[in-house]
Amino acid sequence: MNRYFNESMETAPRHQLWHLQSYNLSRTVYHAYNNVPMYRKRFDEAGIRPEDIKSVDDLKKLPFTYKQDLRDNYPYGLFAVTPDRLQRIHASSGTTGKQTVVGYTKHDIDVWSTCAARALVAAGAEENDFVHISYGYGLFTGGLGLHYGAEMVGATVIPASSGNTSRQITMLQDFKSSILCCTPSYALYIADVLRDNNVDISTLSLKVGIFGAAPWTEGMRKEIEQRLGIKAYDIYGLSEISGPGVAYECECQGGMHVNEDHFIIEIIDPETGEVLPDGEKGEVVFTCITKEALPLIRYRTRDISSITHEPCPCGRTFVRMKKPSGRSDDMLIIRGVNVFPSQIESVLLSVGQVDPHYLIIVDRKNNLDTMEIKVEVSQTMFSDKVKGLEDLSKTISMKMQSVLGVSSKITFVEPGSIERSEGKAKRVVDMRSLH
Ligand code: DLL
Repeated sequence: MNRYFNESMETAPRHQLWHLQSYNLSRTVYHAYNNVPMYRKRFDEAGIRPEDIKSVDDLKKLPFTYKQDLRDNYPYGLFAVTPDRLQRIHASSGTTGKQTVVGYTKHDIDVWSTCAARALVAAGAEENDFVHISYGYGLFTGGLGLHYGAEMVGATVIPASSGNTSRQITMLQDFKSSILCCTPSYALYIADVLRDNNVDISTLSLKVGIFGAAPWTEGMRKEIEQRLGIKAYDIYGLSEISGPGVAYECECQGGMHVNEDHFIIEIIDPETGEVLPDGEKGEVVFTCITKEALPLIRYRTRDISSITHEPCPCGRTFVRMKKPSGRSDDMLIIRGVNVFPSQIESVLLSVGQVDPHYLIIVDRKNNLDTMEIKVEVSQTMFSDKVKGLEDLSKTISMKMQSVLGVSSKITFVEPGSIERSEGKAKRVVDMRSLH
């Protein structure tokens, strides 16, 4: 089996990688300083000149970049190239109304596709595979990211996108898909639908699944592997850094190898910003060192994980990150879609007629994430005709669906019934067990 996509790079000696990273980091710092006003200002304020950054060891001198910076510079303010060099735009949820917009040049798409191709090959993909992609296509990076990666491997892509599970199952059967790419919870949902319809998994040709975009556990891995009769691999990524394939699992499944020739990973203490050693849990920070359009430097992902430089039996020398165990902010991931409570609050406030007291209840039923939003309405409204409340509920659900991209159930409750807090309001109850 062809185990690597780029063998010499994926197994490069660490000292060679260090030189390559140092060279590309220095180039990126010049690129960002010369072309992104925010970086020029930040570096000037910190008294840093691009020539001060000579190697990876100097990385810690640089200031952090936050999701808020993308929002403040919405939509294209952090882009380091002119529009004629852009080839694609993607976007993901921001903390309030505005999306986080990211851009790619032809080179950036090529690098991203290479990273996704490495992930696919590490999971066993070959040219004769049929890769069924049920990640959403569109502004979300999941669908197109894996799509370009699978094409680069030379496999045959089935761009199924998300939704209509029974049709997806027919396609899996008839098109003889051998690799399934989707969120881990959707994989379990497919298994449920197969079971409920008495479809035997022997009617499928699946051998491998590549699952990511949301946290999942070893327990979920076992369940998916058993119920779908496949080997399940994790894949990690985020739009700001490129998309799926920033890190990927190999056959040893002992952590995800970070594509270090393109991204430098650091684990920091989210409170102090201090860089933590191998094995210690903290916030994941990435620096893009080959990006042209959006060269983010020390980007705070808010994901919590740890890394190890221990050699991996697969022969890859890239550092491994553990499955992320949570986030240091309040972002929820519902069916692979990123949702911030602040987005929900702004929708409620924009609709009016409800009080800004609400509780978001997230659960997992039949392996699908559900979201209920309990909102207080005024006493008059609450005792009003049912029709008025029904209309209001419809308006809110429709607006939530269009802003968040996921459906929710709206439940009205009496004024004063949602618990008040003296400190930070508790807005979210997440009943999904991650064990
Ligand atoms: O979710 C990219 C992606 C698509 C990755 C398909 C893998 C597969 P965003 O929508 O920008 O990008 O969301 C990024 O999702 O910061 C993590 O919190 C979470 N996330 C992504 N992959 C994993 C994973 C895509 N394997 C955010 N495990 C990230 C845990 C993940 N969390």
